[in-house]
Amino acid sequence: MSTGETGWTSHAERLADLLRQRGDLLSPEWHRAVSAVPRHLLVPTAFEQSGTGEWTEFATAGSLERVYSPETLITVLSDGGPHRTPISSSTKPDLMVRMLETLDVRDGQRVLEIGTGTGYNAALLAYRLGDDNVFSVDVGADLIELAQARLSAAGFFPTLRASDGADGLPEFAPYDRIIATCSVPAVPWAWADQLAEGGTVLVDLKRAISAGNLVHLRRTGDRLAGRFTARWAAFMAMRHAEATPQASQAARASGDEQVRATATPGKPWNDVPIVWFLAQLRLPPGTTFGYDLDPDTLHPTFTTVSAPDGSWARVNLADSTVTEAGETGVWEAVEWAHDQWSAAGKPKWERLGLTVSPNGTHRLWLDQPDSSTHWDLPDVPAAR
Ligand SMILES: C[S@@+](CC[C@H](N)C(=O)[O-])C[C@H]1O[C@@H](n2cnc3c(N)ncnc32)[C@H](O)[C@@H]1O
Repeated sequence: MSTGETGWTSHAERLADLLRQRGDLLSPEWHRAVSAVPRHLLVPTAFEQSGTGEWTEFATAGSLERVYSPETLITVLSDGGPHRTPISSSTKPDLMVRMLETLDVRDGQRVLEIGTGTGYNAALLAYRLGDDNVFSVDVGADLIELAQARLSAAGFFPTLRASDGADGLPEFAPYDRIIATCSVPAVPWAWADQLAEGGTVLVDLKRAISAGNLVHLRRTGDRLAGRFTARWAAFMAMRHAEATPQASQAARASGDEQVRATATPGKPWNDVPIVWFLAQLRLPPGTTFGYDLDPDTLHPTFTTVSAPDGSWARVNLADSTVTEAGETGVWEAVEWAHDQWSAAGKPKWERLGLTVSPNGTHRLWLDQPDSSTHWDLPDVPAAR
């Protein structure tokens, strides 16, 4: 294989060592894979955003330290004038490796990846399992073409297809593992159909930005069931060929709504994605969750919840005061979710699990699938 820049292998090995020291990487197999995959060849250029929001492109060959570090490299932006948003990237290697460790692959297993992007993760999988056992799809035909060319140049030949990952890739099923590197609002049953009995799927379940987490589900008979991962993670949302990509910031309601302030003493609001997740049970589809950042420090100062009818609520993270506006009663839903979470003992993600049934029901449960503490997520069209 042609590996371009000299000296990259020592950078790749250092990255593998770092991920091991941090506890992201556990097994020698993934250490070898991270050390052997030339990320700079799969991601020759990337975008970075200035404090004022402008994007500029840079060549990664001159920044090997950065390429071989736990940093997401944004590779494609939507066409949106000044409001361009990332629609493809090479995911942070620390998160990628944590997911690969969670996936617990064994020699000879067949893996389907949803969201090829740059092909970096497909290359890690191909190194670990062999080209013949790795399949990867992306909705962007141009991305597949580029990934195919770069993977081949680097000596990797997984099977790639340009198609909507919501359909899986029935042609080569069954798979032992499915890993999705874009988030979905509901787990498509097509994935369960294409999993071997006992196979697993690891996916970021989010109905709205920030409101959800990675969940690792095992297929047993006609059920997918499993737990959310302890560490929170966020992927870009699955998009479809005909749709406009979802903005990564909560939509900001505007206009002259009547604003009222509410105090919420004793409730910390600064890191509660589980509450946002539960709040969706009481909020209309399309509600978004986000943060306002301090323009100087880029630290979150407010969290915002915005409903599609323009109703919104905003929490000041310094003093927990809430300001809200509009008809939907956004804040009431969030308070309800906080009460549900408190009544359940304020569980962290790893105590929560999910069961998905063939009819599309998504049941969220506490500790055990048959727990009396459970919530049925409202129906959403399964990722399409
Ligand atoms: C975070 S990037 C993937 C990172 C990639 N695994 C890597 O190693 O570079 C998410 C990818 O999901 C893709 N994607 C979004 N919607 C999709 C869909 N419906 N089907 C397949 N891929 C999709 C995007 O085009 C994007 O390339």
